[in-house]
Amino acid sequence: MLSPTDCSVTDTLSGYVTDIPYERGFKPMLAPAWLDFAALLGGVTPPRPQPAFRWCDLGCGQGVTAAILAALHPAGLFHGIDAMPSHIEHARGLASDLGADNVRFDAVDFAAAGGLGLPPFDYIVTHGVYTWVAPSVRRQLLAFIDDHLRPGGLVYISYNALPGWTGDLPFQYLARALAETGAGDSGNRFAAASRLIQHLADADVAALAGSYMVRELHDNAGNYPRGYLVHEFLHTGWQPLYVTELRDDLAAFGLRPVASALPMENFDTWILTARQRELLAPIGDPDRRELLRDFCIDQRFRCDVFTRDAAPLDAEEQQSRLLNAGLALARAPSAITYRATTPAGELDYDNPTARAIVTRLAAGARCLAEFEASDGTPRDRIAAALALCAAGDLRPVETNRVTVGPINQALRRRLGGPAEVPLVALPCGTALEPEPASLLGMSGSDAGWRELLALHGV
Ligand SMILES: C[S@@+](CC[C@H](N)C(=O)[O-])C[C@H]1O[C@@H](n2cnc3c(N)ncnc32)[C@H](O)[C@@H]1O
Repeated sequence: MLSPTDCSVTDTLSGYVTDIPYERGFKPMLAPAWLDFAALLGGVTPPRPQPAFRWCDLGCGQGVTAAILAALHPAGLFHGIDAMPSHIEHARGLASDLGADNVRFDAVDFAAAGGLGLPPFDYIVTHGVYTWVAPSVRRQLLAFIDDHLRPGGLVYISYNALPGWTGDLPFQYLARALAETGAGDSGNRFAAASRLIQHLADADVAALAGSYMVRELHDNAGNYPRGYLVHEFLHTGWQPLYVTELRDDLAAFGLRPVASALPMENFDTWILTARQRELLAPIGDPDRRELLRDFCIDQRFRCDVFTRDAAPLDAEEQQSRLLNAGLALARAPSAITYRATTPAGELDYDNPTARAIVTRLAAGARCLAEFEASDGTPRDRIAAALALCAAGDLRPVETNRVTVGPINQALRRRLGGPAEVPLVALPCGTALEPEPASLLGMSGSDAGWRELLALHGV
């Protein structure tokens, strides 16, 4: 049920198309433990007052991340804001199914959210929103953050970045222009526009030759559901930004960059070649340097963490906190190759300390400080754990445990239905998204998946 504060259904919202819903997805990097870890990598003190904290998702979509995180963090207070009533209705239903009574959802736009009288938040996250909405809406979103970020709090903001989207600018403009008219809902109109664009590309139209999306929709169309395509491409405010532009917007509100929430992107050796590092070495200004890095890797999507006034950590405190951060395996030990392909090339992180960490974590989530001295020096343990995190083998998690049986039963009951959320919640405060066959226990389900769940005790 919607509350009296909920907006009426409109087809567009300052140029944001709302006639069909967005996909349901869980974003693990929005979890407090993950954001705290990013803060540690950036050398600032994580904000979390123990045991309670307040977390807010601006443009929460279907509310999957907010509802799951609320169910997994009973001591936290969660809030989701989204202007699409159908999204909020789903979010409330999911939270109710999961038994999460520590989350509230409001179907309001960002301007109206400012008037809800909400108290300050330790974490404000906004995933896949900023570069999809009109400039006036971006200002409303930043004004909300300005008014509601607790001193020392963290802001997570993900956005489409340049230069990576450059080759797709003509594709997006044409798709949106063509889909403005025609039969059916915006999903049908995008499909018709996309068909014509494919024909034009086949006819060697030069303006579409550099488009990654044209190639993707030709070769892998099944990977792109209509809800994704409409919410990705059809808004009039769609505008990827260079990192310096985004940072200027946030600097106007006193927000400064802390780190990337994507661990790999915090390490030059993981994403830049030796020659690129040499060329960037003389660049002292951090914003210009980041811009150059984005050119080196043709950056397309950034997940950045900002703060206004978090206290800096000295090297000793940073090391101590990294040693005491919770870590969990996100891949079965048998699936970990200790090699990764990155923008810098093939990287090898196979060493005894990395193997010892995987062995220890196979007994369940824990922190590096709990390991034996024979597992490596504290410095080596941190270096090896960061490599494993950068490769996606590990993820930052809570150090305490919650009961997940009822949460997973509720998720299982939705499987096969129109609003399934194919996730498995873990007691350490995160959730995994398996291949469908594995989740349903069908033949072809993967032994690695069963191994991973068993070591997490689910
Ligand atoms: C691309 S979706 C991302 C949803 C969600 N963060 C996720 O990653 O699943 C963007 C969301 O922003 C919401 N949105 C767009 N304009 C808004 C506004 N002015 N106020 C509040 N929400 C808005 C949309 O309804 C949509 O759910």
